[in-house]
Parts: sequence; C-alpha cells; structure tokens
Amino acid sequence: DMSEEERLFQERIDAGVKIEAKDWMPEAYRKTLIRQISQHAHSEIVGQLPEGNWVTRAPTLKRKSILLAKIQDEAGHGLYLYSAAETLGVSRDELLAALHSGKAKYSSIFNYPTLSWADMGAIGWLVDGSAIINQIPLCRCSYGPYSRAMIRVCKEESFHARQGYDIMMSLAKGTPEQKAMAQDALNRWWWPSLMMFGPSDADSVNSAQSTKWRIKLFSNDELRQRMVDQTVPQAEYLGLTIPDPDLKWNAETGHYDFGEIDWAEFHNVLKGNGPCNRERLRTRVKAWEDGEWFREALIAHADKKTKAAA
Ligand code: ACO
Repeated sequence: DMSEEERLFQERIDAGVKIEAKDWMPEAYRKTLIRQISQHAHSEIVGQLPEGNWVTRAPTLKRKSILLAKIQDEAGHGLYLYSAAETLGVSRDELLAALHSGKAKYSSIFNYPTLSWADMGAIGWLVDGSAIINQIPLCRCSYGPYSRAMIRVCKEESFHARQGYDIMMSLAKGTPEQKAMAQDALNRWWWPSLMMFGPSDADSVNSAQSTKWRIKLFSNDELRQRMVDQTVPQAEYLGLTIPDPDLKWNAETGHYDFGEIDWAEFHNVLKGNGPCNRERLRTRVKAWEDGEWFREALIAHADKKTKAAA
C-alpha cells in the first residue's frame, strides 16, 4: 500500500518530472540512489588503477598525455558522483569507509589485470564503450543531480572510447606481433565487459523497482545486447575475432546471438575473489592513509582562514 506522499511521488516520476535533493522521496528511493551512485563513484576511482599501471610505459609522449588526461577525467567523475550522492544526505567519509572496509561494491571489471599496452586499447574500446551504453540513459534518469552529472561524464567517456579504439586500430594495422597483442587483449576483456551490465534480467534483484522509479530506463540484458550489436562490426573492421564461438547474426531478431556468460566467475569477482580485488582495495586504502597528513593540513588551513576572517 502506498501512502498519499508516495502516490504523488510516483505520479511525478511517471510524468517525467525530475526529483531534486530537497524534494520528499521514499526512504527506499534515497537508499537505492545512494547505493547505485556510490558504487558508480567507487568504480570511477578504482577504475583509475588498471590504467595507472601503464602511464610510465606508454609507447609515445602523445599516448602518455592522452592516457593521463583520461585517468584524470575518471578522478573527476568519481568526485562529481560523490557530490551527487552527498545531496542525498550521506557523507563522503561514510562512503569511502564502506569502500575501504570492503563492504561497498564497485564494478567487477576493475578487478582484472592490465597485462599489456593493448589492454589500454581494449579498456577504452570495450569498457568505456560499455560504460557509455549504460550511462547515456542515466542522463534521463529521475534524480536531477545524478542525471545532470551524467551529461558531462558521458561526453568524456566518448573521448575515452575513441582513444581506446584508436589504440586498437594502430595495433591491428601494425606488425603481426602487435595485432596478436590486440587480439589477446580482446580475448581477455570481452567477457568481463559483458559482465559489467550486471546479472541477467531474471537475476537482477533491483531492476523492477529501479525501473518503476525511472532510475533504470533499459534492462541489464537490453543494454548488454546493445553493446554486442554495436561492437561486433567494430571488431570486424579491426580484423579481430570476438572470443565467442556461439556469436552469430540472427536475421529474425535483427541482433547478434551470443554465448552464455560465466556467471560463476561474475559472482566470484563480486565476492572479492577476482584476480585483482585484494590488490585494488589495498592500493586505495594505502592512498587514503598516505593522504591523511594532507587532509589534516587542508583542514588546518581552512580553520586558520575562517579565524582570520572572523
Ligand atoms: N560489478 C559489481 N557489482 C555489480 C555489477 C558489476 N558489473 N553488476 C551488478 N552488480 C551488483 C549490483 O550493484 C547489485 O548489488 P547490490 O544490490 O548489493 O547493490 C547486484 O549486483 C544485483 O544487480 P542488479 O539488481 O542488476 O543491480 P542494479 O539494478 O543496481 O544494476 C547496474 C546494476 C546496471 C551496474 C546499475 O547499478 C548501474 O547502472 N549503475 C551505474 C553505472 C555504473 O556503476 N557503472 C560502473 C562501471 S562504468 C565506469 O565506471 C567506467
């Protein structure tokens, strides 16, 4: 049974009205948004680590500046998203504490290692490509601060995807060794990228309610299909093979059919047992601890300024 307040709230959602920070909202709506936005923020922050691994080994100065700019964008996305979450009445310290204790989730994809330079290409192409497909609809989601943050994030993500595809093009057109590196990166990143979209619709516990609240405009499986349909021709253009023997164009549906995702692997990564989960968390905790003197100095400086002004 809905209260009168909840009924009016749902009416506003159904009419496409944006919900703003100070508007009345059901506690469960607030909680769902804090959950999703903070997971998203953590993903951006942890997402800097796999690529950070290659900054000092980028093949040219130009590639290095592009990679640095992209990683800095990700830090910025994390900060907008933490700010968007804070509008819902949670503090950044609480959110970070949940990340550092291992309680909060972040995207499974960032628990895989970056073994070669070609991984910078595959991440931009596949991971940022998937992020865009998932995030473009979020620009129209019901919560105003989240939807507005997504607009700039998506513009920057499309630069990230383009720079990744550009790396893949150079490698695919390069020496046989370079092409093999590109193929190896595609082999390793393909399935984890499909997992980014979350469990299948049948197993997605949050989907029904999030759809009703217009936090989700498309289902996990719909967006995953969109990614496959968009990416297969791009792989063909590169002359690379997607590592899925069941991948096949289906003229009846107008979509590519594809093989079964290894859900056991997905759940194992979510439980903290992916190839890099422990390393990623350790790195973030160390960065937080190492930054303590700096945060203290900032506060001391701000206090001094306030006193001087008073
Ligand atoms: N990695 C880690 N956890 C995941 C993943 C994933 N790839 N996919 C789903 N989950 C988690 C969900 O967070 C949820 O956990 P919780 O209930 O404990 O919070 C659980 O698995 C069940 O999944 P769903 O019911 O489908 O959850 P939801 O409705 O939140 O949908 C989705 C998941 C699609 C990821 C959604 O939260 C979303 O669109 N988030 C915003 C985008 C985002 O976070 N992107 C991060 C990667 S992109 C980037 O940062 C570059």
